[in-house]
Amino acid sequence: MFDDLKYNNFTKYQSEFRVVTFLYLSILLGIYSEDQTIKYLTMKNNIHDQVSSYYGETLQTSDDLKTNACCTDIEYPRHIKDILSQLHDETMSKYYGCGLTIPTNLEGLRVLDLGSGSGRDCYVASKLVGKEGHVIGVDMTDEQLKVADAHKDFHAEKFGFANVEFQKGNIEELGKLDIEKESLDLIISNCVINLATDKKAVLQGAYDLLKEGGEIYFSDVYSDRRIPQDLVDDPVLYGECLSGALYWNDFLTISKDVGFLDPRTVSSNRITIEDEELMEKVGNINFYSVTYRLMKLPKLESDCEDYGQAVRYKGTIDHNKDAFELDDHHLFEAGRIKTVCGNTYMMLHDTRFKEHFDFWGDFSTHYGIFEGCGGSAPFNTENTNSDEAAPCC
Ligand SMILES: C[S@@+](CC[C@H](N)C(=O)[O-])C[C@H]1O[C@@H](n2cnc3c(N)ncnc32)[C@H](O)[C@@H]1O
Repeated sequence: MFDDLKYNNFTKYQSEFRVVTFLYLSILLGIYSEDQTIKYLTMKNNIHDQVSSYYGETLQTSDDLKTNACCTDIEYPRHIKDILSQLHDETMSKYYGCGLTIPTNLEGLRVLDLGSGSGRDCYVASKLVGKEGHVIGVDMTDEQLKVADAHKDFHAEKFGFANVEFQKGNIEELGKLDIEKESLDLIISNCVINLATDKKAVLQGAYDLLKEGGEIYFSDVYSDRRIPQDLVDDPVLYGECLSGALYWNDFLTISKDVGFLDPRTVSSNRITIEDEELMEKVGNINFYSVTYRLMKLPKLESDCEDYGQAVRYKGTIDHNKDAFELDDHHLFEAGRIKTVCGNTYMMLHDTRFKEHFDFWGDFSTHYGIFEGCGGSAPFNTENTNSDEAAPCC
């Protein structure tokens, strides 16, 4: 691992050198002023340094958090509780995530955890992917990486196989990690992307590393409006995963821009802030902990279109015998035939879920928009012959 750290530090300096050279050339050519350049470099480094020192030094355990933004209370399924009960105490006490970011049907997958912290979710995924799978955790904070790395042997012994590695790196520069493009089946992340200064770079990097049919399944914090700069600059609000949060609609736009064409919400919960000082600072802004799943399927359409297709869940996914939940509005009960839009059909047919479903139909006939699944026809569909409703042409 320490060779990895040295390598990543070296490549980090190479890239910083390139950026600095570019910016100084820009000053010489009059593109940016010296003030603008220095401000940009300082702002980016300051936020990363602040976040690292918050998670590496300020917080010692999850009890030190001032809000539940990073640690929302959720009910874990029994098999996840069983795995959590086997994890090392230090891995658990330095967990600062929100929500459950582990989807179903993981056996044999290659998984990456963005901002893996003390490694809790990596070790849960390790057990679920099994000895044929592989899990990589990436984090930029040395103290957290050290804790994660220290308990690799402990977990390998518990589970009977070793399939986890940790790499030091910035999730805004995923292309620099020692991971081949299009080699991952699944990317998970638990309350981290809000801490990144360039969220689009994170999503673009994730898209590039995923195989076609792969997905990023992650929990994070979103706000109901854009956050004013003075709150973004507040180190505690930022470190507590609040003021770096994206306005949810900006998140959807960015996701679609990088190629995740139909983001699906799996669950969402309002975040409560108990600390009075922080509550006063955020005023009317509401924050939500949301789990999204974004699938890399280039043929997805911008809306749910109806091709007359249907599917039936076979009840064969582990721990999901009775029903499989794709997202917050698609629950597939075992044995029941359900009509689906073209996008949902692809999410089940062109992914690791295929073997667990029966499928009917194809894309040869289009029947219009799939009502009740997002979009609806923008016209008055009533057929009236009265004079008042005369057509304009
Ligand atoms: C809220 S904690 C969540 C940690 C972990 N996912 C968990 O559930 O315990 C945020 C973690 O993300 C890491 N982090 C934040 N920004 C990062 C970035 N740009 N690159 C890599 N790691 C980052 C921090 O070092 C910290 O360990």
